[in-house]
Amino acid sequence: MTITPGQAVDAANEVFGRHPGYRALHAKGTLCRGTFTAAPAGAAMTRAAHLRGEPVPATIRFSNGGGDPQAPDYAPDVRGLAVKLYLPDGSRTDIVAQTAPRFPSRRPEGFVELMHASHPGLAMPFKFARFLARNPAAIRGLPANAAALRPPVSYAAVPYYAIHAFRWIDGDGGAHYVRYTWVPQAPARSLSPLAAKRLGRDYLQHELRERLARGPAQFTLELQIAADGDPVDDPTAQWPDQRPRVIAGTLEVSGLETERETGGDVLIFDPTRVTDGIELSADPILQFRSGAYSASLERRVPSR
Ligand code: HEM
Repeated sequence: MTITPGQAVDAANEVFGRHPGYRALHAKGTLCRGTFTAAPAGAAMTRAAHLRGEPVPATIRFSNGGGDPQAPDYAPDVRGLAVKLYLPDGSRTDIVAQTAPRFPSRRPEGFVELMHASHPGLAMPFKFARFLARNPAAIRGLPANAAALRPPVSYAAVPYYAIHAFRWIDGDGGAHYVRYTWVPQAPARSLSPLAAKRLGRDYLQHELRERLARGPAQFTLELQIAADGDPVDDPTAQWPDQRPRVIAGTLEVSGLETERETGGDVLIFDPTRVTDGIELSADPILQFRSGAYSASLERRVPSR
């Protein structure tokens, strides 16, 4: 079976319903503004414009993974962190990450199977078992991915993984494959479902507003660097823990962004929007995502 990006969005709509104006997935979100500042170790690894050292402006969106914009924040779900960086030449580059550290399938079809298997109902246990049988790599990632569904104390107190490998090319033409993690400065903590429920349906949005009123929230961009032979096109694979890690820079989330996505402004965060000095890997999930995000955009803003 080969699926199209439109079919992937259909699958999300079947599970979560169609909600005009909202993203097919990660429908409930909060926009923020901030800056990204490169660290010397990041600057040494790529000639990309946002890694030169000067701070670049950022638009940031925190979200819950599901496609229902009314879903309560305490429901088990992955959380998203999408970052758009504005480069000096007027172009943009995006980093799109979520709290589940490993993707459960190497194939886009696996994503659709997972959507159907996660649909609540009597058949769910059977569908989920069938999904695991067809996607054995998902079993390895289950404990870490299940932990990522717990409600966090804050969007700013949980790590986010960009999953795919990207090829960073330095000023001398040397290249390395790397994977990114946004590591929060605030200690990562989750809540019990009951404690989260007591905080209310929109507690993550409220907490973020209150936190940012007190001062900025920070994340460091941590790179894990592949060695020769590490799989760079498989989002289900882990690289050995002893692979070197470097801090490439710091994202400072300074406040809520109230101007964007109002009055016809449209934002899309696309993980394939890279810039000179950074290349995509051949990961089929990464390659598929851009089309799926555009298909979702066409439905949320049909008049474009
Ligand atoms: C086949 C795999 C995937 C499919 C089909 C898919 C599909 C989608 C769709 C349709 C949207 C809504 C886009 C929009 O309307 O702008 C979305 C958003 C999002 N996805 Fe994925 N996704 C996939 C994999 C991933 C992975 C691997 C990650 C994390 C590394 C991820 C993180 C996110 C985040 C954070 C958002 C919200 C972006 C925002 O705030 O605008 N997705 N995804």
